[in-house]
Amino acid sequence: MRDLVEESGLVIETQGLRISRRGQSLLDVPYLRLGGPGPTVILGPNGAGKSLLLRCLHGLIQADAGTVRQNGRALDAEERASQAMVFQRPVMLRRSVAGNLDFVLRRRGLNRAQRQARIAALLAEGGLPSRARQGARSLSVGEAQRLAILRALATEPEVLFLDEPTSALDPGATQAVESLVLRASARGVRIVMVTHDIGQARRLAADVVVMMGGEVVEHGPAAQVLDDPASGAVRRFLAGELIF
Ligand SMILES: Nc1ncnc2c1ncn2[C@@H]1O[C@H](COP(=O)(O)OP(=O)(O)O)[C@@H](O)[C@H]1O
Ligand SMILES: [Mg+2]
Repeated sequence: MRDLVEESGLVIETQGLRISRRGQSLLDVPYLRLGGPGPTVILGPNGAGKSLLLRCLHGLIQADAGTVRQNGRALDAEERASQAMVFQRPVMLRRSVAGNLDFVLRRRGLNRAQRQARIAALLAEGGLPSRARQGARSLSVGEAQRLAILRALATEPEVLFLDEPTSALDPGATQAVESLVLRASARGVRIVMVTHDIGQARRLAADVVVMMGGEVVEHGPAAQVLDDPASGAVRRFLAGELIF
């Protein structure tokens, strides 16, 4: 049964991914396979290469060597169009909250009535109906991050990459973002999320990738990686994070 679920889901696979600058290795991931239905959380300290890896998976940067494949296919325009990404500090268009969503839906070719229905549904999903006409740039950081996720979801992606979307948020705003992400996951959107928050990994992850020094030091089911990591370095990282 597990195998069937896994096979029917989306699979992202990388091989021989390497990035170096001025003789220093920034990313060195011989092999990584992200499959299965639940959220993948990429965890690790600052500078571990999490954002670099995410950008490679989304085709935003080209590694010096290696390949990224989605369902066995190289990341061409079509595959990339099935992906969306939310950044740590999203940039909103200088227009209303609804206008930011409308911009995306218009590009997807929806007519006016379709766009209005979709905008209402998205705003309800993100708990932002009362903000529809407010300038997007005047939202609180938590609301802005939710709008960024809604804007990404408006493209109906198969995969949603999130790079530390809650690092600037308080617990309440973090919870709102996490529940939005979990609902998207439950609807079948493949989530790949970077964080340095171990609590967040516990709350969200089906599987956890731990990165250090540009390398994947551990990848497995969340409970296994977080409670019984194989590597001493990961154990120390998890312990250190709990202390601070
Ligand atoms: N364009 C770049 N040129 C040179 N070094 C970079 C570049 N982008 C990232 N780095 C370096 O690569 C390492 C990993 O960065 P990053 O992936 O952003 O880490 P993380 O997201 O885990 O905090 C860091 O040491 C960073 O300084
Ligand atoms: Mg980063």
